[in-house]
Amino acid sequence: MTACVYGAPPAALAKAPAGARQVSPLVPGAEPIEALAPASLSAAVVAAPPGTLERRYVLALMLRALRPGGGLTALAPKEKGGSRLRKELEAFGCKVEEEGRQHQRICYVVRPDAPTGLEAAVAAGGPQRLGGDGLWTQPGVFSWDRDDAGSQLLISTLPALSGKGADLGSGLGVLARAVLASPKVKQLDLIDLDRRALDAARRNVEDPRAAFHWTDARSGPDLADLDFVVMNPPFHDTGQEDKALGQAFIRRACQMLRKGGVLWLVANRHLPYEAVLGEQFARVTPHSEGKGFKIYEARK
Ligand SMILES: C[S@@+](CC[C@H](N)C(=O)[O-])C[C@H]1O[C@@H](n2cnc3c(N)ncnc32)[C@H](O)[C@@H]1O
Repeated sequence: MTACVYGAPPAALAKAPAGARQVSPLVPGAEPIEALAPASLSAAVVAAPPGTLERRYVLALMLRALRPGGGLTALAPKEKGGSRLRKELEAFGCKVEEEGRQHQRICYVVRPDAPTGLEAAVAAGGPQRLGGDGLWTQPGVFSWDRDDAGSQLLISTLPALSGKGADLGSGLGVLARAVLASPKVKQLDLIDLDRRALDAARRNVEDPRAAFHWTDARSGPDLADLDFVVMNPPFHDTGQEDKALGQAFIRRACQMLRKGGVLWLVANRHLPYEAVLGEQFARVTPHSEGKGFKIYEARK
């Protein structure tokens, strides 16, 4: 049986067939869902993402990859797109059986001979330019359709940096572009868990000083002796607020820096990062606050 799984469906609700290949862009090393050959799969299980365009994109790509008669199980928490799954699958021409368990909606579908509307959903959820001619972006990526106020505040506060540095959780490359405007920057490593973000960043940051790493910043890549790190760290893990994630990013930044190296960080004002900054760094300077964000400069 050739089967694929997208994301991490709760095992109690939907079991991915043994040997199912992972195709989520949030699992480093996973096969790209876009590369699945049409009509090649016999089964697929999708933990459907919360954004409408992103979810319809994933469902459409899975239906394209399934062979007629292949089975698709798609599920999502009711409040995070689950209540719309049935209609969305019906709009692709599928007959849907649905059940609710543990606050999730679970839909079972047999891939019809001729699904409808797949191309439009793939185009709407695929890589695109913001406003038609702006930065490359993709639905589902952090702040994919608008400037993030926190990142903009950091950009307006950053001095011209120099030497070797990293952008942890680099997203579409918005901070990286600002950092690389300084000719004194020799190297910048962009690190993100989201392949779609990195694919967009490669197009947004066409600069020989930039390198791109699809990995969890808490464990890789192996960088040391950096002069600077910039970041707008994530504080959600699988949809839940997780303060420990940002705190781990701060510890990781400190490991990557040389003595005297500097971390520039923007965070939502309510996030408790001061204690870990104080533990890890020799000197911490708070800078501007605005629109609910705060900026720190932390020197190792
Ligand atoms: C708040 S966004 C900042 C994006 C970008 N730096 C900007 O300012 O627009 C955080 C980024 O961290 C990424 N991310 C989340 N968890 C991660 C992890 N464990 N390792 C690496 N990147 C992660 C997300 O995909 C997202 O792109």
